[in-house]
Amino acid sequence: MSKEAQLQPSTTGFVVKITVVAALGGLLFGYDTAVIAGVIGLIKTKFGLTPAMEGWAASSAIWGCVIGSGVAGYMSDRLGRKTTLIFTAILFAVSSIGAALPTNLTQFVLFRIVGGIGIGAASMLSPLYISEIAPPKIRGKLVSVYQLAIVIGINLIYFVNLKIASLGTHEWKVETGWRWMIASGLLPSALFLILLFLVPESPRWLIKKNRSAEALNTLERLNGKEEALAVVQEVELTLNQEKGTIAELFKPGLRKAMIVGAVLALFSQITGINAIIYYAPKIFENAGSSTDTALLQTVIIGVINTLFTFIAIGFIDKLGRKTLLLWGVAGMIIGLAGTGYSLYNQLDGIWLMVFIFLYIASFAASLGPIPWVIISEIFPTKTRGIAMSFSTTVLWIGVLLITQFTPMLLEPGLLSDKKEEAGAFTFGLFLIAALILWVFTLIRIPETKKKTLEEIELSWKK
Ligand code: GLC
Repeated sequence: MSKEAQLQPSTTGFVVKITVVAALGGLLFGYDTAVIAGVIGLIKTKFGLTPAMEGWAASSAIWGCVIGSGVAGYMSDRLGRKTTLIFTAILFAVSSIGAALPTNLTQFVLFRIVGGIGIGAASMLSPLYISEIAPPKIRGKLVSVYQLAIVIGINLIYFVNLKIASLGTHEWKVETGWRWMIASGLLPSALFLILLFLVPESPRWLIKKNRSAEALNTLERLNGKEEALAVVQEVELTLNQEKGTIAELFKPGLRKAMIVGAVLALFSQITGINAIIYYAPKIFENAGSSTDTALLQTVIIGVINTLFTFIAIGFIDKLGRKTLLLWGVAGMIIGLAGTGYSLYNQLDGIWLMVFIFLYIASFAASLGPIPWVIISEIFPTKTRGIAMSFSTTVLWIGVLLITQFTPMLLEPGLLSDKKEEAGAFTFGLFLIAALILWVFTLIRIPETKKKTLEEIELSWKK
């Protein structure tokens, strides 16, 4: 199939429409994970939580994510990508209502787990679906839009939480305010649910289910009439060579893809991004910022995270995944080393800010979107759902580890008895992870830009 074929403006419009709808899954992912930041302190007072119960209340959604990302692959291989996405939208909506109305902690935790299952499932399905509909030339860009949506979701709920918090007294916030923060998620969930009915099922999944005629219909609108038939033939040909068993994924060849997926997923987390996203105010305050300055610095982090995702969108299909990742992780390495150094030597706060901003910008332009892009494109069509579930579950376990351990690492005790040193050594651990990731990228990650999903699949078997 000729990769040079130009995308027609009409087909581009259709592709963009589908991408935006699917990316709403990312927006809900960001929104529903980050909402807890505004809620946790209030429900702590409301339900009189001990620190252990507080930790459970904060992490319950992430436990749900581990479950959701684990089952969504199997479901989506059987029921279809679109149908399973519709389930996630329903879970989002149910949890927005359920977790807003509880009278005790158990009810809250249960509904957060339900929402988490939705987040985990959507976190693998949205990029997978985008990857399967995307024309190869712009696939990286389109899946990166999903990461942009995650970041926008995080910023949006911070803003909504702030707005709601400004509406009433402390008593009102403890009784009612946090309920509105959670319930506000109903709006994007409902929008997602409605819009999902307007997009087509993934053509690759349809072909797998011997529904090539329907697939052709969609592919004509996605890739243009001439290309569509060639795509169907290429997908059918590759499907015929797949056994579609899980065992095949762990045989030499595809095993390499599984390792790439798992390492990228895990290291996108243990290099520390969510330590900063979730605990930025604490890190800045520990280094001497006032509460107001720390909040402002946190807002700037959100803005940088958003802006630099556009760099990834602009360059990922031109420079390629691998080159962009090498540059980005190198930037993160400098940022982490500088952050650790500034904390250890208690340099002026401005240095800490500069290095953390460098780290965030480098992450946003590379390690933010690229794992999602790569894990959605390197697996075979018959088992893509299950294989991607595996990587994504590893990713969420990474999120759990970081959310659980960062507060403990930052406090005197585990790594050092001095607060500044504990902070510095925490970043030292992230730095080691980033160095390993850089070397792994150099020697193990193949370049997949502009290739069709079928070409990528066949390349593992060579
Ligand atoms: C990526 C990470 C996610 C993180 C987000 C921040 O999507 O997978 O864990 O919260 O980037 O921008």
